[in-house]
Amino acid sequence: MTDRYAVFGNPIGHSKSPRIHALFAAQTGQDLSYQAILAAKDGFAAAVGAFIAAGEGPAKGANVTVPFKEEAFRLATRRTARAAAAGAVNTLSFEQDALIGDNTDGAGLVRDLKHNLGCDPGGRRILLLGAGGAARGVILPLLLERPAELLIANRTEETAARLALEFARLPDCAGGPKPDSAGFAGLAGRQFDLVINATSAGLSGASLPLPPGVFGPRCVAYEMVYGRETPFMAQARAAGARVADGLGMLVEQAAEAFFIWRGVRPRTAPVLAALKGN
Ligand code: ATR
Repeated sequence: MTDRYAVFGNPIGHSKSPRIHALFAAQTGQDLSYQAILAAKDGFAAAVGAFIAAGEGPAKGANVTVPFKEEAFRLATRRTARAAAAGAVNTLSFEQDALIGDNTDGAGLVRDLKHNLGCDPGGRRILLLGAGGAARGVILPLLLERPAELLIANRTEETAARLALEFARLPDCAGGPKPDSAGFAGLAGRQFDLVINATSAGLSGASLPLPPGVFGPRCVAYEMVYGRETPFMAQARAAGARVADGLGMLVEQAAEAFFIWRGVRPRTAPVLAALKGN
């Protein structure tokens, strides 16, 4: 019997996850199926229940994408520390009597930075732009890499301040740097080695009011959005930064989920190359 997996989202039509996991399965010789499921906006739990109940082989797990990551967090009966810190779940494992919720987004970002881009967050001055779900999901994994500094900057400064305070109090981060917060105006005169855009501004084509000086020498600018050139990427390029989009993070978070489910770590470079090919 073939083990079954799925990704739930709304919309889901353009998800690359089925292709990524099919490539991982072929590469590692794992017998599994992986499908994309469109859940109604108010029907996430029901869709997961139906997926578990129906089908040929046993349902073993699922990925969760927009807008269901917070609901998946509530649905999980057990959560990992990084899922708890993120307040969101993107990877569910179905066990006998438990729904285990994990969040591999931050690990995916860190792996893409370290292994694909040669940019170790350890010791770097990091600027994280945004204070929504995408930012929250990557803060703990970044802090655990022991950066020199992590500044969370957001259009609405209070949201960044709340987020920074919350993570500064987290026992997992004890001994490491405490995140700090700012509004965009507070970035004047500051300089960073790694600037990560976790805002959704790029999706609407909006640019961010960043002083060009924030991109330090040999700075890496990371845009979490992928598949388009965003104003943030253009700004960073113009300031001389090395620019990456979020495709690597997408593949790496999938690899981390695959590892959780199958106990095998797929090689991501050929999959990333295949996705970049078309
Ligand atoms: P996500 O879960 O994708 O992070 P979200 O929770 O809606 O989405 O958060 C979106 C983030 O992008 C927020 O930090 C938001 O800033 P505010 O908190 O001030 O709303 C940020 N954002 C969205 N559009 C933006 C824009 N045009 N300029 C600056 N920041 C923007």
